[in-house]
Amino acid sequence: MPRISQARDLETLQQHFVAKRERVKTTIVICGGTGCQASRSGSVIDAVRAALAREGLQQDVSVRVTGCHGFCEQGPIMVFEPGNLFYCHVTPADAQDIVSRTVKKGEVLDKFLYRDPVSGRTITKEADIPFYSAQGRQLLNFNKLVDACSIEDYIAIGGYRAVAKAIKEFKPEAIIAEVKASGLRGRGGAGFPTGRKWQEAHEAPGDEKYVICNADEGDPGAYMDRCLLEANPHQVLEGMMIGAYAVGANKGYIYVRREYPLAVKHARIAIQQAREYGLLGENILGSNFSFDVEIARGGGAFVCGESTALMTSIEGKVGEPRAKDVHTVKEGLWGRPTVLNNVETWANVPSIILNGAKWFASRGTDTSKGTKILALTGQVKNTGLVEVPMGTTLRAIVYDIGGGPKNGHSIKAVQTGGPSGGCLPERLFDLPVDFDALWEAGSMMGSGGLVVMDDKTCMVDVARYFLTFLLDESCGKCVPCREGIDRMLEIVTDIAEGRGRPEQLDLLQELAETVAEASLCGLGKSAPNPVLSTLRYFMDEYKAHVLERRCPAAVCKALIAYAIDPEKCTGCGVCLKACPHDSITGEKKKPHVINEALCQRCGICIGECKFDAITVR
Ligand SMILES: Cc1cc2nc3c(=O)[nH]c(=O)nc-3n(C[C@H](O)[C@H](O)[C@H](O)COP(=O)(O)O)c2cc1C
Ligand code: SF4
Ligand code: SF4
Ligand code: FES
Repeated sequence: MPRISQARDLETLQQHFVAKRERVKTTIVICGGTGCQASRSGSVIDAVRAALAREGLQQDVSVRVTGCHGFCEQGPIMVFEPGNLFYCHVTPADAQDIVSRTVKKGEVLDKFLYRDPVSGRTITKEADIPFYSAQGRQLLNFNKLVDACSIEDYIAIGGYRAVAKAIKEFKPEAIIAEVKASGLRGRGGAGFPTGRKWQEAHEAPGDEKYVICNADEGDPGAYMDRCLLEANPHQVLEGMMIGAYAVGANKGYIYVRREYPLAVKHARIAIQQAREYGLLGENILGSNFSFDVEIARGGGAFVCGESTALMTSIEGKVGEPRAKDVHTVKEGLWGRPTVLNNVETWANVPSIILNGAKWFASRGTDTSKGTKILALTGQVKNTGLVEVPMGTTLRAIVYDIGGGPKNGHSIKAVQTGGPSGGCLPERLFDLPVDFDALWEAGSMMGSGGLVVMDDKTCMVDVARYFLTFLLDESCGKCVPCREGIDRMLEIVTDIAEGRGRPEQLDLLQELAETVAEASLCGLGKSAPNPVLSTLRYFMDEYKAHVLERRCPAAVCKALIAYAIDPEKCTGCGVCLKACPHDSITGEKKKPHVINEALCQRCGICIGECKFDAITVR
């Protein structure tokens, strides 16, 4: 194992690994991220390797197993380099055909090409697929260049050169100045300026300091941090090393939830490899700087992503937040100055040091620089991980990258920022992805969740869903959050179930503002956001529920009724057979009827009727 004891060793090693990569004629890049693994990419990888061996191509063709490419719904994904040919939905049974025809003869096999759901045309190159071409990827671009378990790959693409440069050319204060000048703000939620946080920890008295990587990622539906840690753990480590050098820390932790086994495994391997290469440990790159990293696994409580709860959890105690009268940069882990940054924040650091603050700040808005990774989910044609320059509008994300609404519905809102973010209506889709713009509009960037909702979504039901989640996740330490979320949920449930009273709308608003004001930690402070933003932008829906006992999106079961249109019903009897509650009666070839008293509003009959005869009102 080569030990790197000075920057020059790293350069030599990089040249060696690059030359090694260049010796192969073709690289088949296969996604081995969690999403593609779920669609059997592991077996595809084995089958491709076996087919290459059968064809005697192991010397000329290499297989690179990578982390997530972001377009998981198309998995397993395969990209051929050079050439950028993109295959999707590949199965193990296809491996031999792909190797003998595409790899050996250069044949493009139509059946594996991506078909754009908007234009209907098939696309050959990955770079031409709108889902990718409409983004502006920086961090995610690295994912397909490296096998997460190979430090060789990371060094080949220039990895660890940033930390070598930092140690050789910068004093800690100069690194902090560079990060400040870049305008990097924390990607974990609040958008706190990273350089300022580092400076405060640097200036805090004490010899023992810590840096922590927050990979708790509790937002349902979000997987940006998991993806980065699974796909490119060395880059996160390198960011932490630079941060540790800047603030004067010798120990770091990656706090990652147990539900992310692949991220844990890859982070462990990366730490081990970095130690073996001498990049972690004593006197890194021949300097006085010593640093090591340990993994702390979280139990999966949403509140443990909060800075003080997270540190308490690492200390082995119950992860409960504390008041931040003294900030964690001064008294954090074990009472020592601590810098906590999100995975994506750390991953941005090496490029800032290598390319300079100006390069980083050249993308983005006045107050939000660089790019942001978002988890685009919900009612759009294309879903997945998306990375866009700050300042990109919500409209561009939903329509250009997401491909617009599915199944002919119309889009009415996006929910940004995870469970404690807010819902923004379609008329505000020209808002840019920018920490401050989203906050002013009543939502937030959060860690980057972006759920698209169409006209089949009830906004009262959305508020109810998030309140239910937050009530479960509240640690219960302080009264405003513990009781306030429960009371808000009680009112929203009354409204959704047809018991709502007009005066409850004012009460809900007042309660939400009080919980936001009085709660101890960020969970309680932001828990009212789903309520406040839906009250602000979708009051008409609340009023329809309360005043007309009607759910306009036909979602709230207590407020809807299923009926059969006698004009359209042919009496085929399919719905009668399908209804699990025996609520439909009728003779063959005569219009059927639904017994409202028995109907459980499950919606099964609607999906079964071929004559569009069943309606919801
Ligand atoms: C309830 C709650 C959950 C949080 N969960 C996360 C999380 O999963 N990941 C994260 O990076 N930050 C999370 N945060 C924000 C962290 O407290 C902290 O601000 C962040 O990790 C700092 O890193 P940054 O400056 O790089 O954003 C959460 C905050 C709250 C209040
Ligand atoms: S605001 Fe909620 S989660 Fe935070 S300390 Fe209070 S009860 Fe716990
Ligand atoms: S909605 Fe469900 S319970 Fe009601 S009639 Fe249709 S199938 Fe039966
Ligand atoms: S896991 Fe393969 S594209 Fe996401």
